[in-house]
Amino acid sequence: MKLALLGIGTVGTGVYEMLCASPAFEVSRVLVREGKADAPYKCTDIRTITEDSEISVVAELMGGIEPAFSYLSAAIKAGKHAVTANKALVAEKGIELARLARENGVSFLFSAACGGGVPFLHNLALAAEGDEIVSLSGILNGTTNFMLDRMQRMGMDYAEALREAQQRGYAEADPSADVSGLDALRKLMLSCAVAYDKLPAEGFCREGIESFTAADVAHIQSLGLCCRLIVRGGMVGEKLYAFVEPVLFPATESECCVLENYNMAKYVGKNAGPMVFIGQGAGRYPTASAVVRDICSVGSAREMLREGCEKVSADNSVCFERYYVHLPKAFGNRFRSEQLWDEGETLRLISGKLSVQEMHAIANEIREKGGSIFFAAMGE
Ligand SMILES: NC(=O)c1ccc[n+]([C@@H]2O[C@H](COP(=O)([O-])OP(=O)(O)OC[C@H]3O[C@@H](n4cnc5c(N)ncnc54)[C@H](OP(=O)(O)O)[C@@H]3O)[C@@H](O)[C@H]2O)c1
Repeated sequence: MKLALLGIGTVGTGVYEMLCASPAFEVSRVLVREGKADAPYKCTDIRTITEDSEISVVAELMGGIEPAFSYLSAAIKAGKHAVTANKALVAEKGIELARLARENGVSFLFSAACGGGVPFLHNLALAAEGDEIVSLSGILNGTTNFMLDRMQRMGMDYAEALREAQQRGYAEADPSADVSGLDALRKLMLSCAVAYDKLPAEGFCREGIESFTAADVAHIQSLGLCCRLIVRGGMVGEKLYAFVEPVLFPATESECCVLENYNMAKYVGKNAGPMVFIGQGAGRYPTASAVVRDICSVGSAREMLREGCEKVSADNSVCFERYYVHLPKAFGNRFRSEQLWDEGETLRLISGKLSVQEMHAIANEIREKGGSIFFAAMGE
């Protein structure tokens, strides 16, 4: 099988090495930037790839929306199977690329875009074909899991944990997409699209870990709890819910055993029951292994984004939780509390049940008024 790679950075290099090690594949072309084509197999013009009739698969490993979208569209129109690891691209343009792939009779696969090496989307797509997916959940961002683990197991504060994540290459110089929950949200968007044919493009709720402090760690540990950043998605009637937020689990729950930068992705099938996948959610070789798995599946894999998949607005008013909240005392009246710890200027409380949508709206309102707040659902 002859292939082309678009981009040869962290993941691209891993994919290139894996494919070169197998006699079944030949990487005919690698697209690089202008001025960087320092070997005969490297090219800078996408037409070198689209006009080569022997190339049957194109793997996009550049990142970003453009020119990744234009290049993949051109490859698909030229009859090439398309594989990508690019979650931002699939979240924004995936439905369009899937339609194009269908029209041209080729595959469009993106397992590596959610969970790195963890074979989650691949199996979710298979499960969604024959079973009803009751719910999706999990830890889909390794950087924040590493930081939460360091803070809770090793007593680091937020800044120390972030510094170590950056030193190890888990967090970027600008870590905002990870710590704000955006990266995990994009992976949830893709998972919902695969499971429910609905890609939540708006209406979702997203809370990261930026407000989590060493004082929260001490408090929740005194209650025997452990914090993880969790994605949740599913259907209530015709309504799709999709949100990312910190959750507190009893320290014996499986989520608390997911350490370091590992991911845990879970779906519940109506017939299959709970299915849990744990592994490396990022990094050169784990991610490359997912890309290569997709490459091996082109032509035979089930469509990941089926016909009829559409962008929808999520509705998180259908899910209800009790929340652990720390906030300035002045805003304490925004909650009906079941338990309350008065620390002078700061209150810690366990709220009564409220909808996920309402909790996130209250937090936004408090922040707009200059208050700082941390909240986490009680994982019960
Ligand atoms: N790293 C991970 O662990 C991981 C995990 C899951 C998914 N992904 C996804 O995989 C994709 C690649 O990530 P990465 O970590 O490998 O990124 P990376 O190390 O920055 O590599 C991207 C490569 O693409 C090249 N590139 C960018 N724009 C280009 C263009 N217009 N023309 C030609 N080459 C171009 C870059 O070249 P220059 O060096 O010249 O800029 C670089 O070599 C992203 O979509 C990412 O979200 C990554």
